[in-house]
Amino acid sequence: MKDLILKLEKEHVLCDDEFLTLIKDKNKENSDFLAQRADKVRKSIYGRDVYIRGLIEFTNYCKNDCRYCGIRKSNAAVQRYRLSKEDILECCKTGYALGFRTFVLQGGEDGFFTDDRLTDIIGSIKTMHPDCAVTLSVGERDYSAYKAFFDAGADRYLLRHETADTEHYSRLHPPNLSLESRMECLYSLKEIGFQVGCGFMVGSPFQTDENLVEDLKFISRFQPHMVGIGPFIPHKDTPFGNYAQGSFELTLKLLSMIRLMLPNVLLPATTALGTVHPNGREMGILAGANVVMPNLSPADIRKNYMLYNNKISTGEEAAESIALLKEKINNIGYNISIGRGDYKGEKNGRKS
Ligand code: 5AD
Repeated sequence: MKDLILKLEKEHVLCDDEFLTLIKDKNKENSDFLAQRADKVRKSIYGRDVYIRGLIEFTNYCKNDCRYCGIRKSNAAVQRYRLSKEDILECCKTGYALGFRTFVLQGGEDGFFTDDRLTDIIGSIKTMHPDCAVTLSVGERDYSAYKAFFDAGADRYLLRHETADTEHYSRLHPPNLSLESRMECLYSLKEIGFQVGCGFMVGSPFQTDENLVEDLKFISRFQPHMVGIGPFIPHKDTPFGNYAQGSFELTLKLLSMIRLMLPNVLLPATTALGTVHPNGREMGILAGANVVMPNLSPADIRKNYMLYNNKISTGEEAAESIALLKEKINNIGYNISIGRGDYKGEKNGRKS
């Protein structure tokens, strides 16, 4: 197995069978070795720096009915909310004082936030904080909307592909959503000049090891700047409420593999990873991740942005507890970097 790991480090890709062998392997010594190699590769590019992003969950209204997601349209148990432009700017102001230099606007696909409204909000954040990066995570929109967001100053865009297998995609999503349209969005975002992130859940219902191989091959082809992965966690009020949670160990292994495939990638230790294991965040970093995204949303609405059961939103998960996060990161030998934390590599987004 070690030979496969070293091959992945050297060549950044494997053939299908080799990917599959690595995914299926359960040996702890091998996954430790894999994590060590990933850690070394990350250190060679990003050193011991961990980048922080202030996550603003600005709306939990969503027109989609993704079968895994707690804020899906047909979940009537959710108390819906939207932040106003002023609320969002206030979050940024608070975040700026705490040391955040990237703001991630994440929300459901909410028609209230028209292209014009979002463009206006992006422009206002950039005017208020010209030294900060703005990341968007607002789902599928037209090319012209993406272009307007970019022209207004947005720097990065997160849009998980969720699964690279058409059949699997259709089992996770309602019929009006398609992998084809998701891919088209991702390629548009890249063409426009965003630093782009794709990603998937580990252990989502019906996912096979072969599906994961397809995910890795897509990532290798697409060459994203960021990759967001986390374990699937059931949400009680969704059709997948009784399905099993994704594996923590497999998520760590995939983080390491992705680091070896894309040495420069910005790779978050996600909230979902922190939710399934008390030291999930730290272990993710030790496996090759180099980004954490604490929650900057107003504390009273966090409970309403429940994508899955038990989503953590206090402790070091909360932006206001940055000191605690800093301590935890220092304890494992890394440090929080104050700065935009841009992608280090060739395709560096905006040409100013
Ligand atoms: N478990 C884990 N991750 C989830 N997401 C949505 N629902 C869940 C869940 N039940 C992830 C999706 C989405 C991102 C914002 O959160 O991958 O793209």
